Amino acid sequence: MPKNANPIWGDDWQDVRRLWILDPAVAHCNHGSYGAVPGPVLAAQNEFRARMAAHPQRWFYRESPGLVTEARGEVARFVGAGPEEVAFVTNVSSGVSAVVQNLALEPGAEVVSTNHIYGAVSTALDRLCTRTGATRVVADVPIDSTDEEIVAIFAEHCSERTGLVVVDQVTSPTARRFPIAAVAAVGHRFGAAVLVDGAHAPGMLPLDVPNIGADFWVGNLHKWACTPPGTGALWVAPQWRERMVPLIVSWGEMDGYPTSFERIGTDDLSAWLAAPITLDLLGSLGWDRVRAHNEALVLWAQATVAEALGVPSSELHHDAGLSLALVRLPPGQADTREQAQALQEHMVTLGVEMAVGCWNGRGAIRLSAYVYNRPSDYERLAVGVRDYLAGSKSAFCEW
Ligand SMILES: Cc1ncc(COP(=O)(O)O)c(C=O)c1O
Repeated sequence: MPKNANPIWGDDWQDVRRLWILDPAVAHCNHGSYGAVPGPVLAAQNEFRARMAAHPQRWFYRESPGLVTEARGEVARFVGAGPEEVAFVTNVSSGVSAVVQNLALEPGAEVVSTNHIYGAVSTALDRLCTRTGATRVVADVPIDSTDEEIVAIFAEHCSERTGLVVVDQVTSPTARRFPIAAVAAVGHRFGAAVLVDGAHAPGMLPLDVPNIGADFWVGNLHKWACTPPGTGALWVAPQWRERMVPLIVSWGEMDGYPTSFERIGTDDLSAWLAAPITLDLLGSLGWDRVRAHNEALVLWAQATVAEALGVPSSELHHDAGLSLALVRLPPGQADTREQAQALQEHMVTLGVEMAVGCWNGRGAIRLSAYVYNRPSDYERLAVGVRDYLAGSKSAFCEW
């Protein structure tokens, strides 16, 4: 493949790549963790900041509330919801924290999630259980489970004691897509509330959040929709909205959901305000094209990295629509957190940013693909990891 081209995107790739101000010396193969803000979006965000700095009283008192309401409407539309159904939050961590703080579970109630859950969300559930006397139930979902098996596993772990079911739309450590609507139906069959962690969904998947059938859904726009960091969206089902309060008490409290989440002291609202500008910019490339490209490139990257590392294709898994893909390392390689971190740090010295983790005692590379990536990013990654693992393997043998 040519080094500075991307035939998967097409001839205009170099022009499109220029939208991002990412350090060109680095292969940025971990879009999934933090996203990446295009230059024009950063400029638009800074314009909002300049307006704030030029006339604070006008900005905070007269201008920004209306602008936030408009921006929220655009973000809500993007996830398939109405403007009053969605609240801005800074990220999924804060949205999940607000949801669990609003839940009143009985002592002895159970909170069901899986072993694919994101660490910080898991900690939020621990805190919920400590506060209420509820108990965690963590379902073990094998990495290659089918949708039917996943739904059946949730059903096996639910009972009349289940107060809350938490399900990931796209799992972080394992890059799986879970059948959230069917899992929500299972939770409701047992009378439980259902929270969907949709951190990776906006931008990666077309969304119709109200029709998932959940009680709560939280997503990040700063990952796959490329808005500035600090742009999360919280959708709450109608029956919960009246009771839903933000974690932090402020002047918006009396306005109720969703405005109460948006008037939290004095804050920099520029990320939220720049969100619609980002959606327009990426939308001008064509969301279908963006998604199809990211999925095709990540599949190519997965096959390339797997081949370099000698991982058989029978071990590769990819769920339709995802711009993330996993390559599990052979057992014994990077299968502790420290080893995974050492590999990740080594790759930084080669100019490659990537996500390496271990899940269920097995090392894994989580590949991300976005529009600014090109095949040679993953070729560099593949060669670097192959050489590193070969070196650590021989060091192992000498030892
Ligand atoms: C599945 C999942 N949930 C929650 C989060 C937390 O997102 P944030 O750090 O924006 O709060 C992440 C972040 O990567 C994630 O992957």
